[in-house]
Amino acid sequence: MTAQIINGKEIAQAVRQEIREEVEQLKQKGLVPGLAVILVGDNQASQTYVRNKEKACADLGMHSVLIKKPATLSQEELIENINELNQDDSIHGILVQLPLPSHINEEAIIEAISPEKDVDGFHPINIGRMMTGQRAFLPCTPYGVMVMLKHINYDLEGKHVVVVGRSNIVGKPMGQLLLNANATVTYCHSKTKDLTYFTKQADVIVAAVGRRNTITSEHIKEGAVVIDVGINRNEEGKLCGDVDYEDVLSKASYVTPVPGGVGPMTITMLMQNTIESAQRAYN
Ligand code: GUN
Repeated sequence: MTAQIINGKEIAQAVRQEIREEVEQLKQKGLVPGLAVILVGDNQASQTYVRNKEKACADLGMHSVLIKKPATLSQEELIENINELNQDDSIHGILVQLPLPSHINEEAIIEAISPEKDVDGFHPINIGRMMTGQRAFLPCTPYGVMVMLKHINYDLEGKHVVVVGRSNIVGKPMGQLLLNANATVTYCHSKTKDLTYFTKQADVIVAAVGRRNTITSEHIKEGAVVIDVGINRNEEGKLCGDVDYEDVLSKASYVTPVPGGVGPMTITMLMQNTIESAQRAYN
């Protein structure tokens, strides 16, 4: 079997075109969707992510505000900033870029964001809503994976999905969304004994551990769908995922590349959450 490539760039473009049209419709009603991003400190990777979010907003005709603060900012000052944005009617989404400096409690910051503007889907209220199948802002990366699977018309009902990784941002919510779609879900993680025993049984594998070559052809069964959420660098500094891409190509039915797979979906789903929030504010 030669795997089909799931082109995240193309799918993201298609979703963005729909968002563009929805932004236009909202503008005709006099409402411009707005996203505020708070960046604390000067982490290089965070600066790149934040710049990409601003670019995406501009590209889609959305309003964006970037609030840059020094690493010495206190937790109280950051919460004050968030409170102001919670009250600001021109802002429909608030994102505090993580990680934060170590003197700031990330959980306290996430909980300070109004759940109705939590377009990251990190607030415990949104996580609880997602778990109980209510309308919620979904975390952008797992949400993007679900959109990719829908795009290839993959029916998850009754399928066995193995999620490798259990972060609050990706692994845990990923499993929950798959469960909501009637898949049978197994979580594997760094303490799992005999990873291959589990992954060999999977119809779909979602790799989200942040370690390259975690999944090779040895780990998968013939015809498995392999979704790679990892973003790592190899010895030459080249971007790579958690999956040995070349190796699984001849055994998998579908595979996502890195770069150009799940990555482009994440920011797109952030934009989707922001316009959804704007639409809710209008209705
Ligand atoms: N840092 C890395 N990824 C993310 C993300 O999706 N949201 C936020 N807020 N910070 C991040």
